[in-house]
Amino acid sequence: MQGFAGKVAVVTGAGSGIGQALAIELGRSGAHVAISDIDTEGLAVTEERLKAIGTQVKSDRLNVTEREHFQLYADGVAEHFGKVNQIYNNAGIAFTGDIEISQYKDIERVMDVDFWGVVNGTKSFLPHLIASGDGHVVNVSSVFGLFAVPGQGAYNAAKFAVRGFTEALRQEMALANHPVKVTCVHPGGIKTAIARNATAAEGLDPEELAQTFDKKLASTTPEKAAQIILDGVRKNKARVLVGNDAKMFDIVIRAVGARYQSLFPKVVSRLTPPAH
Ligand SMILES: NC(=O)c1ccc[n+]([C@@H]2O[C@H](COP(=O)([O-])OP(=O)(O)OC[C@H]3O[C@@H](n4cnc5c(N)ncnc54)[C@H](O)[C@@H]3O)[C@@H](O)[C@H]2O)c1
Repeated sequence: MQGFAGKVAVVTGAGSGIGQALAIELGRSGAHVAISDIDTEGLAVTEERLKAIGTQVKSDRLNVTEREHFQLYADGVAEHFGKVNQIYNNAGIAFTGDIEISQYKDIERVMDVDFWGVVNGTKSFLPHLIASGDGHVVNVSSVFGLFAVPGQGAYNAAKFAVRGFTEALRQEMALANHPVKVTCVHPGGIKTAIARNATAAEGLDPEELAQTFDKKLASTTPEKAAQIILDGVRKNKARVLVGNDAKMFDIVIRAVGARYQSLFPKVVSRLTPPAH
């Protein structure tokens, strides 16, 4: 893959799934890569694979919810490589539970990682991206940032928020004539550990939910997802839909508008196991 040679790219949540595949695809395309995660074992695997293909890699444990640490980290990456061109705010978690039975702490945790993690990453790196003269912010939302489904209120809130934040940023960068492109990514079901790493409200079986996700919803490989995302970045797309499921949902939502809310619960109830 061409187009990223000599660029410095930062990937959060790079120890697994889409983040790991993105880091490796960026390395293959000639980028220097700064990878981070809270899962240091997964991160070590990504680092090893990047070193095996000759990529210049900086690997750090970073919790995206720790704002001060993120800012110090951004300065450290810029100092290490001399510049930063791209940040992929990818780290994320999932949680399933109807709002009625979800605890505040569950909703806050999802917002902390999935929304505030993206805000922390964007704001920490933005001065460096502007200074590079050729910057790009890539924020990972979800198809659940395009439409809502029962049982995903917290995740929907975080992913809609990522989309709003990212779409505003793209327009602001253009208006300010800053040399920073901005892309919002909306994956459909990707075959990663996300459901196995997820938590759920009381009465729901996380194992059963993970099996349903793996069998019925995850259709695209992380490697394919990474290729689609980097292709969208290269083309400076505002919105990247990952997978045929994401493209199909996008068409349906645009066709039926807000009426999807009376259509989808029937479909979703067939996909999600009931609470016990
Ligand atoms: N897999 C899908 O079907 C799917 C669909 C839509 C969107 N997404 C989004 O894609 C992104 C990547 O998810 P994935 O599917 O590769 O999942 P994954 O669980 O395989 O990988 C996510 C990584 O993020 C890391 N992480 C979690 N909390 C963190 C924190 N506080 N700080 C730093 N790292 C943290 C995890 O340790 C893990 O390595 C997420 O934002 C997710 O919401 C995934």
